[in-house]
Amino acid sequence: MIVLGIESSCDDTGVAIYSAERGLLAHQVHAQNAIHAQYGGVVPELASRDHIRVGLPLIDQVIKAAGLTSQDIQGVAYTKGPGLAGSLLVGSLLARSLAYAWQCPAIGVHHLEGHLLAPMLETPQPSFPFLGLLVSGGHTLIIAVKAFGEYEILGETLDDAVGEAFDKTAKLLGLGYPGGAKLAKLAELFSDDLSGHPYLPTKFPRPMTDRPGLDFSFSGLKTHVALEIKKRTALSELNELSESDKINIAYAFEEAAVDTLVIKITRALEQTGYTQLVVSGGVGANKKLRAKLTELGKAKNMTAYFPRFEFCTDNGAMIAYVGCQRLLRGEHEDLNLTVYPRWPLDKL
Ligand code: KG4
Ligand code: ZN
Repeated sequence: MIVLGIESSCDDTGVAIYSAERGLLAHQVHAQNAIHAQYGGVVPELASRDHIRVGLPLIDQVIKAAGLTSQDIQGVAYTKGPGLAGSLLVGSLLARSLAYAWQCPAIGVHHLEGHLLAPMLETPQPSFPFLGLLVSGGHTLIIAVKAFGEYEILGETLDDAVGEAFDKTAKLLGLGYPGGAKLAKLAELFSDDLSGHPYLPTKFPRPMTDRPGLDFSFSGLKTHVALEIKKRTALSELNELSESDKINIAYAFEEAAVDTLVIKITRALEQTGYTQLVVSGGVGANKKLRAKLTELGKAKNMTAYFPRFEFCTDNGAMIAYVGCQRLLRGEHEDLNLTVYPRWPLDKL
């Protein structure tokens, strides 16, 4: 079976073709960062309009890149939720119209199920059951993945997502939006030499690790960052942050965020007895997180799986993969067209 996948839940248009027999045949992502950067966040109406603009040409390109024609497509998968209502509607309408015209079934996919199963596009693949750590700009979840379609949420954020905390800290440091990856790059410049400064190095708290449970809270961290920026700015002769101040704050923030995730994952592994961990979502691209979880794996006899960088962030390949599995199980949409801007993963 050959499935076209369309992802349009937020600000990336992702298109891919997955074959049940031959694996991923082609994929492309069109990111909208340049459009939203000037506003410091995603503007939903602009996101929808850009999905409309690039959707069909991108689908055309990906079908050609796979060496196929539209007649070869046997199913169309699309993101049905959660996400921005307008963006979801654009992708859904596109997918459903194409499926109708091509006379093949369509299937709506849960965006987070896509992220969770993205490592299935890699070799070696994890096997069920495994622990999922989903860390993106909108979500921070620890999930027991018991079987395909059977997910239990063990922990989640009570306020900001970890990616959101990265982005807000990056914004405070003047790194632009979305700044998570830029902040991580800046933190890489940290060296012990910088700790010669009388106010260095900074250490931020690891929120909610002093009490039992697997939930997170990241909104307090940005307050600590803001206070640190204020303190350092007041102390500087030029009344501004120096480059080394920025590097230190970026480093201290990244350490705090990553340590918090690692502490909770250690607990979740002990609680479930699972020996495999799948990390996905945009923050899954973070090198320090990958290194610390790989290290944890060695210490705990656990294998950590990470999708390649481009499949950590939003993409069509994960949607095509999950859609294909569901179509093979005989599932498909009826003639109703509904999107779910809010859609709990354990209600699948
Ligand atoms: O999964 P994703 O593309 O979008 C959704 O939120 O659904 O994740 C984007 C998030 C942003 O918050 C971005 O700043 C963060 O992932 N991110 C990173 C890195 N690369 C992307 N955060 C930390 N380190 C990175 N290297
Ligand atoms: Zn996502």
